[in-house]
Amino acid sequence: MIVTIDGPAGAGKSSIARSAATRLGFAFLDTGAMYRCVTYAALSGDCSFDDAEALLRVARSCQIRLDGARVLLNGEDVSEAIRTPEVTRHIRYAADHPGVRAHLNVQQREAARGKNIVTEGRDQGSEVFPDAQCKIFLTASPEVRAQRRQQQLAAAGKVLSVEEILADQNRRDLEDRLREVGRLRPAADAVVLNTDGMQPEEVLEAVLQIVRRVQDAEPA
Ligand code: DC
Repeated sequence: MIVTIDGPAGAGKSSIARSAATRLGFAFLDTGAMYRCVTYAALSGDCSFDDAEALLRVARSCQIRLDGARVLLNGEDVSEAIRTPEVTRHIRYAADHPGVRAHLNVQQREAARGKNIVTEGRDQGSEVFPDAQCKIFLTASPEVRAQRRQQQLAAAGKVLSVEEILADQNRRDLEDRLREVGRLRPAADAVVLNTDGMQPEEVLEAVLQIVRRVQDAEPA
């Protein structure tokens, strides 16, 4: 069974998708980490982001292994290195590149083959797994997402104003929505879950309920 969880930045997808996978006993695929790895590799290798062919070569040279919470790129643990603001700022080059997307889509389908899996990203239900049995689009209002992000950052000792976070988030939302290939949108058959006013445990329970409804409806 494939469960896709898509949605905008800061909707809480990663932690909810990861916890849902654990509770269901499913594998978990963080596809944002794959785009981050390609971007990190391009930055490390001095690849010019304007050179589309070079960026595709970089993507093809990336051996990405997602091992629990760890992300390994060509054998190196890059779990933290791929989450810096610098990587986030440059990610649109890989995310906007149709060739890079096609390459990563193949890897994502490969990773899911023969497994029960929860896969998380922007285009999982709409593009990569159009036949997934269960599609969820997790969202929240921009203000709520920015406030949650602020709390997360504060817990990690980083103090930023909601306004600063919101400005960055609005930029990413726009990039994600306007992308020509693989843009952020709910699949026609996705359940849209707006999590404004919900605690993380409530979101997790709501997600699990959606999955269980599908499981109960599937022939054994
Ligand atoms: O979920 P995240 O913030 O780690 O994702 C990083 C970026 O990667 C995000 O800004 C857009 C891109 N992305 C994408 O285009 N398609 C996906 N399936 C996952 C992420």
